[in-house]
Amino acid sequence: MKIAVYPGSFDPITNGHIDVLKRSLKAFDQVILLLAVNPRKKSHFSVEERLAMMKESVKDIPGVLVDSTTGLSVTYAKEHGANCLVRGLRAVTDFEYEFQMAAANKYIDPEVETVFFCAESKYTFISSSYVNELSAGGVDVSGLVPKAVLPYLAKKK
Ligand code: COA
Repeated sequence: MKIAVYPGSFDPITNGHIDVLKRSLKAFDQVILLLAVNPRKKSHFSVEERLAMMKESVKDIPGVLVDSTTGLSVTYAKEHGANCLVRGLRAVTDFEYEFQMAAANKYIDPEVETVFFCAESKYTFISSSYVNELSAGGVDVSGLVPKAVLPYLAKKK
C-alpha cells in the first residue's frame, strides 16, 4: 500500500488543501493529513479546533486519515510507513519556499521524497490567512472552505 503524508498548519483547512489532497489520492492509496503543530507559530485556531475541522472536512473522502504531530513531518512519515510527503503548489511564488523545505526534509532523511501537486487555478489565491481576514471582514467565504469550517469562522467574528 502506498502511503503519503500531507503536512501543514491547516489554520484552517481550505478548499485549496482539499483539492491537493484529492489529487494526491490519485497517486497514493492512503494519505495522512497531518497537522504539524508548531508551538512557536501563533495560530488563529487551536489544535483541537483545527483537527476537528480537518476530520469533519475529509470524512467522506476514502483513504484519508487525520493526525497531528509536534515533531518533524519526515520522522512522522517514516514511523507510519510513508516515504512521500505531499505539498501543493499554487503559484511560482510557492516554489522557493517549498524547494527549500523539500531540501531540508531531504537532509533529515534522503529516503523521504516530497511530491508536489498543482492546485487548480481557481484556488491559487486561497490561503488560510486570507480566509481568516476575509471572514473577519464580513465576506462570504463559503466558496473557499469546506462547509465544516464555516461555524468555526463564524465564532471568531
Ligand atoms: N491551498 C490553500 N492554501 C494553501 C495551499 C493550498 N493548496 N498550500 C499552502 N497553502 C497556504 C496555507 O493556507 C498557509 O497560508 P497562511 O500562511 O495564510 O496561513 C500557507 O500556504 C502555508 O501553509 P502550510 O501549507 O500549512 O505550510 P506551513 O508553512 O504553515 O507549514 C509545514 C509547513 C507544517 C509542512 C512544515 O513547517 C513542517 O513540516 N513542520 C513540521 C516540523 C518539520 O518537519 N520541520 C522541518 C521542515 S523543513
